[in-house]
Amino acid sequence: MDHFQLRNGVLHAENVPLLRIADEVGTPVYVYSRATLERHARVFREALSGVENPHIAFAVKANPNLAVLRVLANEGYGADVVSGGELARALAAGMKPEDIVFSGVGKTHSELLRGLEEGIGQFNIESEEEGYELAAIAQRHGRRAACALRVNPDVDARTHEKISTGKRENKFGVPLDRAAEIYTRLSSENGLEMRGVAVHIGSQLSTLEPLETAFEKVGALIAELRANGGNVTHADLGGGLGVPYKTGEHMPSPAEYGAMVARVTKGWNVRLMFEPGRVIAGNAGVLLTRVIRSKRSGNGPPFVVVDAAMNDLARPAMYGAWHDFDAVAPSGDKMTAHIVGPICETGDTFAMDRECDALVAGDLAVFRTAGAYGATMASSYNSRGFVAETLVDGDRYAVVADRIAAAAIMDAERVPEWLD
Ligand code: LLP
Repeated sequence: MDHFQLRNGVLHAENVPLLRIADEVGTPVYVYSRATLERHARVFREALSGVENPHIAFAVKANPNLAVLRVLANEGYGADVVSGGELARALAAGMKPEDIVFSGVGKTHSELLRGLEEGIGQFNIESEEEGYELAAIAQRHGRRAACALRVNPDVDARTHEKISTGKRENKFGVPLDRAAEIYTRLSSENGLEMRGVAVHIGSQLSTLEPLETAFEKVGALIAELRANGGNVTHADLGGGLGVPYKTGEHMPSPAEYGAMVARVTKGWNVRLMFEPGRVIAGNAGVLLTRVIRSKRSGNGPPFVVVDAAMNDLARPAMYGAWHDFDAVAPSGDKMTAHIVGPICETGDTFAMDRECDALVAGDLAVFRTAGAYGATMASSYNSRGFVAETLVDGDRYAVVADRIAAAAIMDAERVPEWLD
């Protein structure tokens, strides 16, 4: 459930009509709902009521906006970060260092050092090589890094191939059949406190079975590690729960996920950790856009050209993803149209042959479920600048990220004098 609803014929974010934000901030613009973020954060936590003292770290990559992170910090969430930039954001937003988990296959030397200096709670190590590098840095600085070893369970998450991470051929984690020996070797490093295992098999999962299979493999690994004398006090189960992008689409609920987790992890005797991203932020945001014009070419449906483009919301172009597209002030009439952005490539298509609200030039519309992997994946392609982001709270809203004009990006560029 989200707080983007029609009221008196006009789409609102909580109590704020989207017409107002479009007028005052311009379009395209991302609009997030605080109440929806809080609701999702609480629903996810409640879904884990069968788990003792879960550690929940929001996957910052899903929505790194500082205000969004602050809302989640206020809900007691930690952060799952994958770069020095995300680490800085989590700290700036008020997340406690000890609640921060550092994931990622390519943490650089300086990122590992930064994490140590900040005193973050856990490094999720993705290779034996990374483990030795971290151990050396930690020893040199007289520290010990708390670590989990990320394993690759070779499970097909049955999601889009570009966001599937748990197959043997993917770059993530260490192969399950080598995990025990690697864990043992890393455990003898003085700079490391090996304390657990981590797994994340992919994102936008529409069924729980692959997760359950992966978790069972993790459970077996924990038993093996302990049998080898290993210390295992934590297990990080990652994120991945899908959300409905299409009206009527069915996804496993957080409650079903939580019940499965409680059942499968019974007796593990570890502190469970979670890294949800999309399920928290996805339906808490929309991308508000204005129709520039409609054009016809040939006999097919019209092309509705909106002022948002693939640089602002990359998911349709990148993964062929569906985002519901609704008018802000629907007349009740419907049409079939191709929804496209202004960018000069055919990939800048949000939807083909989409049955949607009738729209004409100047009308406002939203792409829904744009709160996760939306603004954060933006680029300035076609020299379009970066869109603004807003956060609604009841009947007020704030601009939480300024629009970055194409001119400001150009200002960072130089033409060397030797080109004169
Ligand atoms: N933990 C790790 C280690 C991850 O790699 C990810 C997502 C998450 C947690 C959060 O997963 P979530 O709960 O959001 O599914 N750009 C793509 C999604 C990429 C996900 C990458 N990793 C998209 O727009 O669909």
